[in-house]
Amino acid sequence: MTSPAYVMHATGALKTFLDHFAYRWMPHRPASEMFGKRAVIITQCLGSDAKSAAKDIKHSLSWWGISEIGVFTGALMYNLIWDKLSEKRRKKLSKKIFKLSKKFSKINYKKPAHTNLITKFKFGFCRLMQKKLYKNNAEYTDAKYWHNQGWLGKKRPWHKANRKL
Ligand SMILES: Cc1cc2nc3c(=O)[nH]c(=O)nc-3n(C[C@H](O)[C@H](O)[C@H](O)COP(=O)(O)O)c2cc1C
Repeated sequence: MTSPAYVMHATGALKTFLDHFAYRWMPHRPASEMFGKRAVIITQCLGSDAKSAAKDIKHSLSWWGISEIGVFTGALMYNLIWDKLSEKRRKKLSKKIFKLSKKFSKINYKKPAHTNLITKFKFGFCRLMQKKLYKNNAEYTDAKYWHNQGWLGKKRPWHKANRKL
């Protein structure tokens, strides 16, 4: 996922895209594939705040169920003044790029990503909520979806048998 920083956040267009997928947030109807996916977020700004733009995106992706999210942020200002940067600063920036590329080149993309504890905790909390909703009304769209996935029982999207790439 990529975005420039517009007034220190992700662009309105990207926000609209993320809003469209609000129904895929864990408290609603998350896609089981997301629990085995990896994401990379690349944002850029002129001076500041590419990190904040990346945070906007990361927030949504983590609630979609993605645990492994790599973030790379950059400021174009560094490009413009690259020649004027100290050797130490240039080395630090190059190292940042190298480290992230190395991390992602080592990944075995044939294997689904690991689902971390925070994601499992969020899922558990939403499951309790959906269980209650299903008891009240078995036709409620979100609760019915959770039931049909088998998540109100023992099935989990990160279990080996249910994992998808
Ligand atoms: C509406 C708008 C708001 C922007 N807000 C910021 C900002 O808050 N911080 C910043 O560093 N750059 C800001 N920029 C600059 C963009 O991040 C920069 O243009 C972008 O990274 C794309 O680079 P480009 O213009 O060379 O294509 C803004 C640009 C626009 C059009």
